[in-house]
Amino acid sequence: MFPIIDLFAGPGGLNEGFSSVKNDDGDYAFKTLASLEMDSFACQTLRLRATYRELVRTGSDLEPYFAYISGEKTWPETLRGDFKTAYTAAKQHVYRVELGEENRPEVDRHIALKLGPESQRGHWALIGGPPCQAYSLAGRSRRTGDETFASDHKHFLYREYLHILSKFRPTIFVMENVKGLLSSKNGDKSMFQTILADLTRLSSGARYEIRSLVVDADPDELEPSDFIIRSEEYGVPQKRHRVILLGIRSDVAHMIPRQVLTKADGAVTVRAALRGMPRLRAETSNRKPKIDQDWKAVQAKALQDVRAVEVTAKPDSAKNGSIAVAAYEAWVRESELALPVQNNPRAHMVSDLARYRVMAELADRIGKSPKYTDLPQSLHPEHRNIGKAGTPFTDRFRVQVWDSPATTVVSHISKDGHYYIHPDPSQARSFTVREAARLQSFPDNYFFEGPRTQQFHQVGNAVPPLLSKQIGELVAGMLQKLKD
Ligand SMILES: C[S@@+](CC[C@H](N)C(=O)[O-])C[C@H]1O[C@@H](n2cnc3c(N)ncnc32)[C@H](O)[C@@H]1O
Repeated sequence: MFPIIDLFAGPGGLNEGFSSVKNDDGDYAFKTLASLEMDSFACQTLRLRATYRELVRTGSDLEPYFAYISGEKTWPETLRGDFKTAYTAAKQHVYRVELGEENRPEVDRHIALKLGPESQRGHWALIGGPPCQAYSLAGRSRRTGDETFASDHKHFLYREYLHILSKFRPTIFVMENVKGLLSSKNGDKSMFQTILADLTRLSSGARYEIRSLVVDADPDELEPSDFIIRSEEYGVPQKRHRVILLGIRSDVAHMIPRQVLTKADGAVTVRAALRGMPRLRAETSNRKPKIDQDWKAVQAKALQDVRAVEVTAKPDSAKNGSIAVAAYEAWVRESELALPVQNNPRAHMVSDLARYRVMAELADRIGKSPKYTDLPQSLHPEHRNIGKAGTPFTDRFRVQVWDSPATTVVSHISKDGHYYIHPDPSQARSFTVREAARLQSFPDNYFFEGPRTQQFHQVGNAVPPLLSKQIGELVAGMLQKLKD
């Protein structure tokens, strides 16, 4: 098994894909030595998932795990016997720490301990990327003119990543980041060019060849955009576009032929992702009967107006990839669970229920998410400047349409429920944690610890596991070439 160190591990999306890869002999190709992460809920999620894997690996009884994630058993009731043994082993691989200059010596010691003596280290991979807030386009536009931005320490967290690369020289690294990284600047300098230059030649003298996972070209000829991976092209039901760099240590790069990911035969749509999910209604967060009555009337009128809208032609829906859908279903489905877990809808205001209902109905008719301004006037909030040019609020409501992959599931999805309106008008609600996890291609047996907001946060932070599995397969093949 090739060792992995996972930095800024989040809930473990990237790790999940790598951990699932098997070699030609049917054995797991990777073993995670350490996941480093500062968020306590994400660490709990990582520990639980590592326990599940340990139970699977040792052929142990999975019933206590399923009972726990279904809410049938409490944690103390679960933490017994084989489960406890697996948890004790798994826990050692998750290290809660804030990476940064202050904790560098401690982190270095931890990684060195996990990797073992230098002379005995074989080929291994470093996965994970420095957090993205500082590069993200939304973050930047909000912070234009903010003088503290240029000196934001998150802007420089990638230096911690560089330090670890430089010191421990993994054979291969996989670094993920948001697309905003490509256009981000630090003063006059392009962050991306700086990062590429730094990664190619590290302070310790280690050198890396930086390759694209999607464009088969000489590293010197790659354009920044060649590093963008569009998840929907690889069987993930979501248009999540991320920058992913593959670094191969220069002393071995010549032994590894260039290889890129294979595109799926078509799209996995929201319809395919939600297949088999129960139909649910949201609770209402304001229960005054008078308001309820008023909104029922407003909604009924709005639905009438919407149904009267003449639809000429729907846009083409995404080409359905039958092999991709089968692969997705085999990956996410869990037959041991009678009902999906973490699937309770959030409570909504009655006024929003009416908007969701009407927007989903309109989306179904026109085949794309309507703009908020397309809603009948009666459903506009009175105090907002709807319709004014440049009002960002008009884009704050979005229906995820049935016959296309979803838009990006973001980490602040818990605050932006309006952006993830369920396509079924009769359900009139936003997506549950489990539905968001489906869009991210998390297996149904993957459990996110913490309160609901934190669960959403973790789901939105992750690399889609089904994508990372494909990257892991490529990396395993590359490392295997060095062993053969
Ligand atoms: C984009 S997420 C990583 C997602 C992960 N690769 C996955 O696929 O699930 C970034 C993570 O970095 C963590 N993080 C941010 N700053 C950190 C720091 N200084 N030290 C450790 N973790 C940090 C955040 O808590 C967050 O979980």
